[in-house]
Amino acid sequence: MPIQDLIPPSPGDSADAAGEIKMELDPENSAMNDLVEEEDLKDEFCDPDNPIIVKFQDVSAAAYKIKSGVHRTPCQKSQISSIVGMEVYFKKDFLQATGSFKERGARNTLLTLSEEQKQKGVIAASAGNHALALSYHGQSLGIHVTVVMPIIAPIMKINRCKQNGATVIIHGQDLGESKTYALRIGKNKGLMYINGYDNPHIISGQGTMGLEIVEQVPDLDAVIVPVGGAGLIAGVALAVKSLSPRTAIIGVESEQCPSFSAALDAGHPIWTRSGPSLADGLAVPTVGVNAFATAKNYVDKMVVVSEDLIALAILRLIEMEKAVVEGAGVAGLAALLGDKLPELKGKKVAIPLCGGNIDTTVLGRVLERGLAADGRLARFVVTVSDRPGGITELATIISSMGISIKDIFHERAFLKSEIFNVQVKCVVETRDQEHSDELHRALKHHYPSGRIIWGPHCI
Ligand SMILES: Cc1ncc(COP(=O)(O)O)c(C=O)c1O
Repeated sequence: MPIQDLIPPSPGDSADAAGEIKMELDPENSAMNDLVEEEDLKDEFCDPDNPIIVKFQDVSAAAYKIKSGVHRTPCQKSQISSIVGMEVYFKKDFLQATGSFKERGARNTLLTLSEEQKQKGVIAASAGNHALALSYHGQSLGIHVTVVMPIIAPIMKINRCKQNGATVIIHGQDLGESKTYALRIGKNKGLMYINGYDNPHIISGQGTMGLEIVEQVPDLDAVIVPVGGAGLIAGVALAVKSLSPRTAIIGVESEQCPSFSAALDAGHPIWTRSGPSLADGLAVPTVGVNAFATAKNYVDKMVVVSEDLIALAILRLIEMEKAVVEGAGVAGLAALLGDKLPELKGKKVAIPLCGGNIDTTVLGRVLERGLAADGRLARFVVTVSDRPGGITELATIISSMGISIKDIFHERAFLKSEIFNVQVKCVVETRDQEHSDELHRALKHHYPSGRIIWGPHCI
């Protein structure tokens, strides 16, 4: 496979490459660049020319190994079944100690190290769940972990890795730069580099989730799996298809980074442009070579979901399931809420809720987006009389319908219509889409046509 397919065409073409800020918080390693040649910086476990296809035996061995250190999370039928018209079971891996399924692969990989490697320690590049999982299990197994995180990594995750005893190095504008740096330090210090989605032991560890799903919910029609670097879908698909060949495996990507779909089209992993996403764990521009080779023949269908659907799925899970799940972890439900899989109506479906590590500040913004996507936040502009009582009249129409005003803004200076008019811009909170539509109808009825601009793009 041509190596240039796996990397961005040029640094400037990468969506993450904007800006030139560099932050180096590891003076000890600042001379590293000179010591290792660029061509030596390869992960020996992820060779594009010799991809490793993981076997079912590897997954069952992993299940045995990690049993005592990783939770067997519940897989329960959800009330959401009734709103999507199918029997939905959620596999709740956000309940793992560090809040994600990544612990499965991390612990399995650490347990397969030689004694010598355990002594030396390991290194990884990650902005989130893989770093947390590896540092947590490294601490519990007495293996030192170094993680290289990009400068955009949330401070909460940096601190949690440190609390887990890891050495944290902040380096790189994006994960690609962190990875190159981690490989360089690894080569110099003899630390094994552990890729979070493509190391074969990571893939077999993630597969243990598939084994549990099949045991917990027999006769499944489909499992819907979020896809980033594809380690999770590779392991889960391998486990599920080996035990239940009739169960369909459906992958879900963020429309901001459909790299597995692109790899299926190309026949091999290929670099795909990615944009910022609520599902940051899914924003992997090139899927893993081993993960792709293992998963490609098992995946029955791929779908993509929008940012709005991801926000809506986070909101639904909080409201109906009392579960806080991060963007990457809700992709499966987002696909159902967006009616992307109508063929599953009436069927029995399992969806991993893979992670719950969402920043509180992000959560607040996401909930607002979710309310808007659900039709429960409406935005409109209406031109009303600026004579006494004009704005009161508008407020009365809104309040009489049990709708509350969240934001209101008046504008007079730029109006081209009558001098005694005022343009009122409102954001209001309603019960649901039907309630918002009712308000729209009432306003159209009350104010002559042309004086209302309705919808998200109106301001
Ligand atoms: C919560 C969550 N879900 C799903 C994924 C996707 O897993 P993979 O990269 O193995 O495809 C990730 C990856 O980081 C994740 O953090």
